[in-house]
Amino acid sequence: MTSDPRPPFVHTVAIPGGRLAVHTAGSGLPLLLLHGFPLDHSMWSSQEPLAEHVRLIVPDQRGFGGSEGPGPESIAQLADDAVALLDALHVAGPVVVCGLSMGGYVAQHVAARHPDRVAALVLVDTRLEADTPEARAARVDLSGKVGRLGQAIVADAMIPRLLAPAAGEPARARRAEIEAVLRRMIVAQPVATIQAALAALGDRPDMTDAMRRCRVPTLLVVGADDAITPPSCLQTAEALMPDARLLIVPRAGHMTPLEAPAVFNAAVVAFLQDRIGDRVHPA
Ligand code: MLT
Repeated sequence: MTSDPRPPFVHTVAIPGGRLAVHTAGSGLPLLLLHGFPLDHSMWSSQEPLAEHVRLIVPDQRGFGGSEGPGPESIAQLADDAVALLDALHVAGPVVVCGLSMGGYVAQHVAARHPDRVAALVLVDTRLEADTPEARAARVDLSGKVGRLGQAIVADAMIPRLLAPAAGEPARARRAEIEAVLRRMIVAQPVATIQAALAALGDRPDMTDAMRRCRVPTLLVVGADDAITPPSCLQTAEALMPDARLLIVPRAGHMTPLEAPAVFNAAVVAFLQDRIGDRVHPA
């Protein structure tokens, strides 16, 4: 347990050009958790036990959840928002930045744009490369459909590809539960935010060279059944990043922290205890 536990807390914080809602809990080494698209901070609720070891800082990124709109102009802007949030919370020293998928793109941009603010990276179910022309065209198409038909079309398009196949009844019931949580989260996001984020995702640059130069300790995590950013994406990252180790999680898809929370949380704690050491509270 922590010597100075802070109770879970959601509040809003002013950053240049808006306000971000942020959930904080725990104390000690700050661990910033950046959600995927088109989700919000609540996708990390299974990571609450990490607050026994570190200080969790879990924002709704610009336009998502309880944060003010109209949504991101770029992934780089989301990275600058994350650093502005740390400033607003008076977190001056380097932090651990963990992001899933879109959050992973943002985490890479934080490391590239603000290297002095990053002690370690945890990149989850994500990739370093930019979109292919086909992927970009699919985002433009989806953006048009969201405008005409609403958020449910995004849930319908994404949810079947987000989770690992379930074998057996308990696994099927658990999968249905996670799907329902994800659907509620997706349909709660404003249409304008979803459209802005689709444009920002499609425009994001290739981060391969930046990550080749990134020397911070990095944990790469991917679900063995991730259909959106398959294990090969993170194997490529492991091969080119100077200080990266990869964990492939069995029976998990693109939402590893929700699908395999015990494995994910234990891996993060073990990595941080190994690489950051005495700033991480023991259990
Ligand atoms: C996400 O989960 O954040 C998205 O799948 C990212 C993407 O579409 O590239």
